[in-house]
Amino acid sequence: MQMPLTNQRKSLQPANPLGALTDLLQADLEAVNALIMQRMQSEVELIPELAGHLIAAGGKRIRPLLTLASAALFDYKGTRQHKLAACVEFIHTATLLHDDVVDDSNQRRGRSSANALFGNEPAVLVGDFLFSRAFQLMTEDGSLEVLRILSGASAVIAEGEVLQLAATNDVKTGEAHYKRVIAAKTAELFAAACEVGAVVAERSAEECAALRSYGMNLGMAFQIADDVLDYTAKRERLGKSLGDDFKEGKMTLPVIRAIARADADEKKFWNRCLGEMEQSDADFDRACAILARHGALEESLVEARRYAGQGIDALGAVEDSPLRRHLEDLVVFAVDRDY
Ligand code: IPE
Ligand code: IPE
Ligand code: MG
Ligand code: MG
Repeated sequence: MQMPLTNQRKSLQPANPLGALTDLLQADLEAVNALIMQRMQSEVELIPELAGHLIAAGGKRIRPLLTLASAALFDYKGTRQHKLAACVEFIHTATLLHDDVVDDSNQRRGRSSANALFGNEPAVLVGDFLFSRAFQLMTEDGSLEVLRILSGASAVIAEGEVLQLAATNDVKTGEAHYKRVIAAKTAELFAAACEVGAVVAERSAEECAALRSYGMNLGMAFQIADDVLDYTAKRERLGKSLGDDFKEGKMTLPVIRAIARADADEKKFWNRCLGEMEQSDADFDRACAILARHGALEESLVEARRYAGQGIDALGAVEDSPLRRHLEDLVVFAVDRDY
């Protein structure tokens, strides 16, 4: 007898590979967490208070895990990856502080966001502090190559956020522009996190590029899935509020796909809600209904899965190992996640 489709899908899905990676890299991750706690300190009390509010809420630590996994994948025996993983997480945390101000978001990691609790000004300034800490960690490592990769990523993320801001409320935004935005604001840091792990392990240019490509594709899949989650009830389980992108007039892939198929009425609806930002309480539900009518969420996930496939292909350049398999599972999981 054939298995029902839902069970089939479940059986094909790997158990949470983040858990497997965390178990495998436990000692390294503990060293990274200790560094994060130590380096977020400052005599200016508001800094550890505000940064600690966000950092103590956890987060998946996916980017530092990528740096640790990438170094371990190549059997690196030193400890340079610890500072670099902490640096990557500081860059990420700083962007979250700034992003929640820009997006006017109230929830982050299941708590009130720092801007909601402390106000915009301290959230921006502590974000700047964490960026600066990240740069200190990079220079302590001392490798110009590492500095090039991570400082480059930091600049590219900021470009991505600005690029996105410029396209907000522009209902003519196309898919190419959207992809340029998410490559910069999200995938670049995933790519850099993976690449520096290979760089500290002193691997060949091809292997460093393979890890970079893996991270880039994982990041694209991850952000597309995140943008889909903004229109599904699962979103609240991520500890972020539902419908933020709609509320802000963000042109994400599901909306871009639905606008491409919109009839005259729907075009008017998107123009009013996202272009002119005139929204009533019932509009978010209507947006979800239109997305469903055009299969826009499922279609976006198909696109995310295409990136996931490319990520797995990139790892083909690396020798097979249990760690490599966890990294392969991670891209699949990133698409169908509800975390
Ligand atoms: C959130 O990243 C920002 C996006 C790129 C969507 P994560 O989902 O990795 O956030 P935390 O660190 O686990 O909270
Ligand atoms: C993530 O962007 C923030 C960065 C990558 C800088 P979003 O605004 O789409 O992510 P969430 O949904 O707030 O986490
Ligand atoms: Mg946001
Ligand atoms: Mg944003």
